[in-house]
Amino acid sequence: MNRSLTRRQVTAQNWKRKDLLGLQGLDASEIVAILDTAASFKKSAPKPSLSDKTLAFLFSEPSTRTRSSFEVAALRLGVKVLGFSASASSLLKGESLLDTIKNLEAMGVDFFVARHESSGVLEELAPLTKASLLNAGDGAHEHPTQALLDVFTLRERRGSLKGMKVVIVGDILHSRVARSNVYALKKLGARVTVCGPSALMPREIEKLGVSVSHDLDAAIKGADAVNVLRLQLERQKQNLVTSIGDYFEKFGLTQERLSRAPDCVVLHPGPMNRGVEISSEVADGPQSAILEQVGNGVLVRMAVLSLISRWRDDGAR
Ligand code: CP
Repeated sequence: MNRSLTRRQVTAQNWKRKDLLGLQGLDASEIVAILDTAASFKKSAPKPSLSDKTLAFLFSEPSTRTRSSFEVAALRLGVKVLGFSASASSLLKGESLLDTIKNLEAMGVDFFVARHESSGVLEELAPLTKASLLNAGDGAHEHPTQALLDVFTLRERRGSLKGMKVVIVGDILHSRVARSNVYALKKLGARVTVCGPSALMPREIEKLGVSVSHDLDAAIKGADAVNVLRLQLERQKQNLVTSIGDYFEKFGLTQERLSRAPDCVVLHPGPMNRGVEISSEVADGPQSAILEQVGNGVLVRMAVLSLISRWRDDGAR
């Protein structure tokens, strides 16, 4: 029997996940439940009714958008945010991440929003704690809330992602944003092309159901959206691009290139390297939805906190 026919469609009312670790394992109805909840919050701000919940950040990598956005989302819902900083904690004395979580959980922390350099670290920890773990980026693995806010922004602009052509350009090899976007976009029916230099393209990426291009001028023709990724020089163990100038010439999103796709929405997860992967003219231009993405990030994170809180309150159905 086809399992997809037997599985119940997930809605905001029957959400069943304790954690948000990635989008690979979610089905389309779960993604839509998050997007619909975020959209309802945009129409009408929810009451700050989650004052019995506490959230702590576990960030071992820097962040501007994700951390602040989760904090704003939590505060809007009434969730208390613990003033805990991983970089000033006993993690530095050798305490394990699991012991850190267990100790904070014993103080009543319900949510951990974690960013870590190791891919998959939260998947090992999640079954060992009753607290909810929310992945804010793990190595080159996944960054689920970033992809959710990206698809939310596209859905809001275009109504539906079905059949939409989306180009993801840049450092695909090191990008957790690319992976989570591919999972979300494919599940929602978009056609995805990943574009970048061969040295920054993961082997066998085609197996995820995407087209591969090394020519941005060709890839961008007819695109509905282009998601521009940062060149992650800090993750490169060797020089994988010949020079920044050469990279910008071949893969930088300029106004001239964008003129091949006049209706194309421009996304960038941030932080942007202006003049490396995107020109300022494009980043600040009329096709850019970059700051819209940031605003939508708060709504999407509110939706995730709200759905998981309801599941926790209902006694983990
Ligand atoms: N997009 C994103 O993850 O940005 P930060 O690194 O600033 O959180």
